[in-house]
Amino acid sequence: MDKKNFREFGNLSEHAEVSPKEILSVKSIGKNLFKTKNPDEMIERADKSSLKKTLGAFDLVILGVGCVIGSGIFTVVGVAAAGGAETTGAGPALIISMVLASLACIFSAMCYSEFATMIPVAGSAYLYTYATMGEFFAWVIGWVLLLEYTVGYIAVATAWTGYFFEFLRGFSKYLPEYITNPPLWLIHDYKTASQIMTSQGLDPATNVPHIFNIPISLNAPAIVITLIIMMFLIRGIKESTKMAGALVVVKLTVIGLFLVTGAFYIKPENWIGTGGNWWQTFAPNGFSGIFMGAFIIFFAYIGFDAIATAAEETKDPQKNLPIGIIGTLGVCTVVYVLVALVLTGICPIDKIDIQAPVASAITAVGQGWVAGLISIGALTGLTSVLLVMMLAATRTALAMSRDGFLPKILKTIHPKYNTPHVLTVLVTIICIIGTTFLSLSTSAELCNFGTFTSFIIVCVAVLILRKKDPNRPRPYKVPFSPWFPLMGIICCGGLMLHSMKSLTTSKILFPLWIILGIIIYFSYGYKKLRENNCGDEE
Ligand code: ALA
Repeated sequence: MDKKNFREFGNLSEHAEVSPKEILSVKSIGKNLFKTKNPDEMIERADKSSLKKTLGAFDLVILGVGCVIGSGIFTVVGVAAAGGAETTGAGPALIISMVLASLACIFSAMCYSEFATMIPVAGSAYLYTYATMGEFFAWVIGWVLLLEYTVGYIAVATAWTGYFFEFLRGFSKYLPEYITNPPLWLIHDYKTASQIMTSQGLDPATNVPHIFNIPISLNAPAIVITLIIMMFLIRGIKESTKMAGALVVVKLTVIGLFLVTGAFYIKPENWIGTGGNWWQTFAPNGFSGIFMGAFIIFFAYIGFDAIATAAEETKDPQKNLPIGIIGTLGVCTVVYVLVALVLTGICPIDKIDIQAPVASAITAVGQGWVAGLISIGALTGLTSVLLVMMLAATRTALAMSRDGFLPKILKTIHPKYNTPHVLTVLVTIICIIGTTFLSLSTSAELCNFGTFTSFIIVCVAVLILRKKDPNRPRPYKVPFSPWFPLMGIICCGGLMLHSMKSLTTSKILFPLWIILGIIIYFSYGYKKLRENNCGDEE
């Protein structure tokens, strides 16, 4: 390796040539791990970027609502209220869980806004960490964000398949049986397919096809929708937000219909019982259920942070980003609290169907036609979430490959569409593989762990940069600092720790993902970053 191909990486002024041997010495590694990146360098590089600046505040709120309102409010809300295999439910006190989850988000949203207006570049939490805590933590958080967006995508794609068949079954009179009811191995990952088969008294060993003794089970509808999303994203972000806009209108209309129709059937006794101990009806599992409900329903809020990843493609980011981020969160919180009130008001907790809670609650009060529309709304809602989740995954990986952590080929921008097409294809392949191996609940919980971690880091990063660089212009400042960032850390950390008491699989997979990331950093990224002579292009 040529000596001049190795450079120390950090602030522009600190670039110095060193030998490969020195780079790998313990002293050098210790110094490099905590080297921060100068925010001015990031902004300068982004200014030269070939990504088009097309998004305004309204586009961002559409993008945000498009990414946020999805399987959380259409599916996960049932488990948050009534409980699931590994968790207890909040009961009608779900509205408190929703406010708690939204509080954890709002403090973090303010911190995201402070950074996004200061450093309006693609990469969001990853780059904020680079500017404050240095290279090693930046890699770890980038790695965690990739987990958040890809496993979040996998969870939503899996829910999408469920609603797709819910929708098709509405036409079962006109469609052949093999379309409305295909073999389980063609619409589920292997674990889920074999669980369903076992519950139906079927033996997975004989009912799942095998090739060279390997059982073949895949989620074909999720694969098809993923390929369609990929094509939209390669065509361009403006086109993608246009599509997200249309989908957002449909899902908000359908939710509005549920609220208006359901309001006529609310029975206050479903919230507080009839006489006696109202708290027992309102919060059947007490505060433990409320906190677990908040952890679970947090999934419904995930996505507003993805707006920050589109910073480089935003016009006037200093003004538009805070409106986009905080506006999205505000709209979603109001919608969610209303849905929780109506859902728990029209349906007793023990009657909530955790597969399709909103649709079945409205069917139970005799308004089946609304349920049909809800499945269409859910399908469109989930599609827009898929679109933005994949967008966020590719933009985070783009920022990491620009820094040299990942192979150069990944930062290639399409000459005609100006989008990172190589990365988009790679993320598509990873998501397709994921839908074949991960179940909905495991991927949603993993996504929550990843998101809580990134929120905590962004809150910490705001506090660090206020201390290290107090005079940097901040077009938007988190009010009541350090208290609000600290509240964000406490809310996110508290919910995450509380959930660990009962979760199993995801609690083990999450640290494994971090350990894998650390191994890749030390065996590849650390050296590659210097070989790639970062900052030289784009
Ligand atoms: N917030 C997104 C959803 O609910 C992840 O689907």
